[in-house]
Amino acid sequence: GAAVHDHGGQGGAGGAGSVSVTDLTGPALGAPDKRFELVADEKKIKLASGAEVDAWAFNGQIPGPELRMTQGDVVEITVVNKLDHDPVAVHWHGLDVPNAMDGVAGVTQDAVAPGGKFVYKFRVDEVGTRWYHSHQAASEQVARGLFGPMVIEPRTPVTAAQDVSVVLQDWATDRGKVTAFGTADQLDRRALPAGTQVRLRLVNAANTTHDLAVLGAPFRIVALDGTDLHGPTELRDRKLVVGSASRVDVEFTMPAGPVRLADLGDPGSGLLFSPDGQGDLKIPDGLDAVDVYSYGTPTSTPFGPDSHFDRTYKMVFDGGLGFYNGGFALRQAINGAVFPDVPMQMVTEGDLVRLKFINRGEEDHPMHIHGHHFLVLSHNGKDVSGSPLWLDTVVVRPGDIVEVGLRADNPGVWMDHCHNFDHTKLGMVMHLAYA
Ligand code: C2O
Ligand code: CU
Repeated sequence: GAAVHDHGGQGGAGGAGSVSVTDLTGPALGAPDKRFELVADEKKIKLASGAEVDAWAFNGQIPGPELRMTQGDVVEITVVNKLDHDPVAVHWHGLDVPNAMDGVAGVTQDAVAPGGKFVYKFRVDEVGTRWYHSHQAASEQVARGLFGPMVIEPRTPVTAAQDVSVVLQDWATDRGKVTAFGTADQLDRRALPAGTQVRLRLVNAANTTHDLAVLGAPFRIVALDGTDLHGPTELRDRKLVVGSASRVDVEFTMPAGPVRLADLGDPGSGLLFSPDGQGDLKIPDGLDAVDVYSYGTPTSTPFGPDSHFDRTYKMVFDGGLGFYNGGFALRQAINGAVFPDVPMQMVTEGDLVRLKFINRGEEDHPMHIHGHHFLVLSHNGKDVSGSPLWLDTVVVRPGDIVEVGLRADNPGVWMDHCHNFDHTKLGMVMHLAYA
């Protein structure tokens, strides 16, 4: 496992047997259809309440600029590092890009030193809500603000009249920790006429799971992690459990009264839409959570829990004191080991791979696999593959057993880790590697 960190340059997996350089960099691409520039720099940010964050921001804004593109576009994104002392690298979370473009410092590229830049280039074949964030010292850099939303529209747009990305973050401010949607840590009221079709693209950039709610209008969850759900039914006044790094797209039609997006853990913050930009909406007690595992209308999938899997890997998560970083320390372990001692999960291109996540700890572990989407096969022993949920991050709650399946179709060495970056830092990191 340790070898992964020793690879310096681009294409860190260069030593891997049958995998070629083109496998890792993707096909040669022509002139880009879209160009973006993301400049990382220090910037003091004021939240709506006046609380200040010693932020690090892309292009001086929090969240960073929304990168909007169209399916099939070749995009070129230049990341410029203007931070005083810290190197950066940017990961396109939920986009299955070629390995060399994945933005994981120490694995797929060298981090970009202060004063330097790196040009990412890839074609976007998937549609939906993704996001980008620093993947260098992420527990500090993402917490400080180096993230932003990314939306890939389908070739034939189906856009709602109001299509809004909303990025949620826990900020460390001069007044303590607060939750905010962007920089709104207080109720942010916006005017929207009755009858308007609204799509909210919720991105949880925080390390922790947030219980959100959409109140005041019937709504549908139309996509999870950017992938459209099959036959989503209408919901009303329900709690949405949103794990770290997950995206939830909801749609509703503006009624005559207000609609509120609330964070149940911080009722003072949130967004309120109403025809005159005024009003309020109480959060009812005891909202039922949506069981996303059984929310979609079942349909057939290319594989399920009973399929033949070429490889199965089981990961038991547990936190606590153990041997870490040369001493007895707090750590978050996988099968009793911490990075870099967690064995790599070896796969061969074409394999159908099953990963079984078992949480024996007391905290949520939002498990994210780079470079691949997986189908959730089962949840606590129940077959949920029909829903179907194609995700890039699944939150495994204390006591939960979640099985996911994926097709190994994107060669390289891919990070596979808990997306609570505080846990990442405490060792909860593996890699999926192609032989
Ligand atoms: Cu959001 Cu390793 O990534
Ligand atoms: Cu974790």
